[in-house]
Amino acid sequence: MTKLTLKAYAKINLTLEVVGRREDGYHDIVSILQTVDLTDTLSLERADALAFDCDVEELRGGQNLVLKAATLLKDEAGYAGGASIHLEKGIPVSAGLGGGSSDAATALKGLNDLWGLGLSVEELTPLAAKLGSDVPFFLHGGTAMVQGRGERVRPLPPADVSWVVILTPQIAIPEKTAAMYGGLAENDFTRGMLTRKLEARIRGGGDVPPQFLFNAFDTLARGAFPGLKEYWERFEALGAQEVHVAGSGPSLFSLVPRREVGTAMSLMLEHRHGWRSHLASAVQPAKGQDE
Ligand code: C5P
Repeated sequence: MTKLTLKAYAKINLTLEVVGRREDGYHDIVSILQTVDLTDTLSLERADALAFDCDVEELRGGQNLVLKAATLLKDEAGYAGGASIHLEKGIPVSAGLGGGSSDAATALKGLNDLWGLGLSVEELTPLAAKLGSDVPFFLHGGTAMVQGRGERVRPLPPADVSWVVILTPQIAIPEKTAAMYGGLAENDFTRGMLTRKLEARIRGGGDVPPQFLFNAFDTLARGAFPGLKEYWERFEALGAQEVHVAGSGPSLFSLVPRREVGTAMSLMLEHRHGWRSHLASAVQPAKGQDE
């Protein structure tokens, strides 16, 4: 194989509980994640050395997680060749949707195939965890529960979630994830029971009632992202129910029962407020992919 084109999916957190602070500066979390079909595209081609390019200029530097993933895999596997890698962004950047982490996981899996390294998901997991707390989840995708700082992944049966409207306000804050975790107060911490309740429901083949959704960053995000409250209120005014942030924000999402309901909501967000949103559906890994 000399060439490969892959989709990297975004995620939402159906629950995200922060249990407490750890000695190493991270936080212990318990979260149920779901991949959705909002995507980036990664093109890989065998080459003598590593080269990386992206259609978004700010993401082209050596700090990009895709290039870090490629370098890490090449070094760990002792692979002599390289790859020419091109990333096309469709997932909003720094938005709580896991785009960078998904790109990194997709690069690990794709290069593993392209280079014929034959590493399993279990063998790729420690490399993924080195790149970021959310990266191991994206080696699996679908519905999964994560624990620890997010790197311990337990795949779940597919959650019965069909459509989701995602609204991503253009509000940037520096070092967002670290700042958001750092801003949590004691009373934002919970013990994981809400997630376990949803886990049982999903394992039992049940649907995902909107009132089971939870995100520890909901309250903090309203204050931390200037203007987010207005997005939230107007989203709800259009009929969005149980709105939560994705990850540590600022993207907001609401589950909708039918595609038409989501399309109508998206159109209203665009026409009334000039806000672009995404109507996405849940994505499960192709059968056999997660073995
Ligand atoms: O793992 P990642 O590089 O995505 O984390 C970015 C920052 O977010 C960490 O340096 C840490 O400050 C914070 N974080 C945390 N607890 C987690 C995940 C991230 O405190 N479970």
